[in-house]
Amino acid sequence: MKYPLAKPFFSAECRKRIAENMDQVLESGNLMFGEYAKSFEARFAELAGTSYAVSLNTGTTALTIALKYFDVSDKEVLVPSGSFVTDVSAVYFAGGVPVLVDMNPETLSFDLEDLKRKISPRTAGLIWVHLTGIISNQYADIISLARDNGLFVLEDASHAHGSTIDGKRAGSFGDVGVFSFYPTKTLTSGTGGMLTTDDECLKQFAEEMRIFGKSSDSASIDKLGNDWFMDEIRACVGYNQLLEADAQIGHRTLIAGVYRKNLSNQLGIFVLDKAPNSEPSYYQYAIFLDGRVDGPALRKTLSDQHGIQAKTIYRATHQETVFKDLDDGTLKQTEETLDCSLCLPLHMAISVEDAEAISKIVADEVRAQLST
Ligand SMILES: Cc1ncc(COP(=O)(O)O)c(C=O)c1O
Repeated sequence: MKYPLAKPFFSAECRKRIAENMDQVLESGNLMFGEYAKSFEARFAELAGTSYAVSLNTGTTALTIALKYFDVSDKEVLVPSGSFVTDVSAVYFAGGVPVLVDMNPETLSFDLEDLKRKISPRTAGLIWVHLTGIISNQYADIISLARDNGLFVLEDASHAHGSTIDGKRAGSFGDVGVFSFYPTKTLTSGTGGMLTTDDECLKQFAEEMRIFGKSSDSASIDKLGNDWFMDEIRACVGYNQLLEADAQIGHRTLIAGVYRKNLSNQLGIFVLDKAPNSEPSYYQYAIFLDGRVDGPALRKTLSDQHGIQAKTIYRATHQETVFKDLDDGTLKQTEETLDCSLCLPLHMAISVEDAEAISKIVADEVRAQLST
């Protein structure tokens, strides 16, 4: 594929540092809770604007630990259906009951009316996802709705490393933030996750859960944990990649700007406005196709004829086989928005010229479809 959708990037300098640092790690014989995990956490807490960051083996682990901390057992947790499936899986892993909420197509976040409607006496909290890296400009309403109803707010910022709105950082709005370093993510450690919070008790809980539930005071096992920590090898990769976060996010912002400029006034294509007070970090750049456009056919043409890999943001969670019983018929905006979404290649190896060429091809192919 000439233009893959996502591609992890390590600059030559970054690779050199990793090689040198990795040698130290291997030589030290210490693969747990060493210098790199600590440095990664300290620097990541700065990126998220929180007092603490706890490194973990995956983002799904971060979700699960946070949900266990809030003791969601047999309680309802509001989750967007328009997100990655493990937001729902983690609720089950923690013993809770997921209740799916519809999407606002303009923010790619919660539809506020549906969110309000689905709060019940059994609701413990909500998982608020910054899909594609955009923080909803309705954030104040989402947080106050949660606060007014005594609900915890768990931000899933897996797509939003370094995103801001009104100067506030993704991962610092709610009670807890979670991040993924899965290989396609803006910053990656191979696989990995991070939990961010200002709550010292939650930080300690996560630190204990990630090492079999061993209490930090008594060294006895007093809770059901697992080996959920991030080892030094991945922490070394993640830390070195984090040092280049500004360059990576800057490049993604530049490329997203090219797509937005070129595709905002094209037949059959809609783009989301960027709120002037927001700086998404652009994990993905999604455009939206007019209902008359055949999305699957367009993706096939882009791939087969032009080497452009493109996909929808996700399939709605309630349309995945394992979660079909969560479809209560109220999630239509999620289905429609995701079905007509088209994520374009966005990573460090996509140049401005590539983005110009891709925009032109996409616009031409959409126009060609509509004129036949
Ligand atoms: C929004 C979102 N939440 C959670 C996850 C799960 O993270 P991980 O794969 O690190 O477990 C991912 C990605 O993989 C994601 O995109």
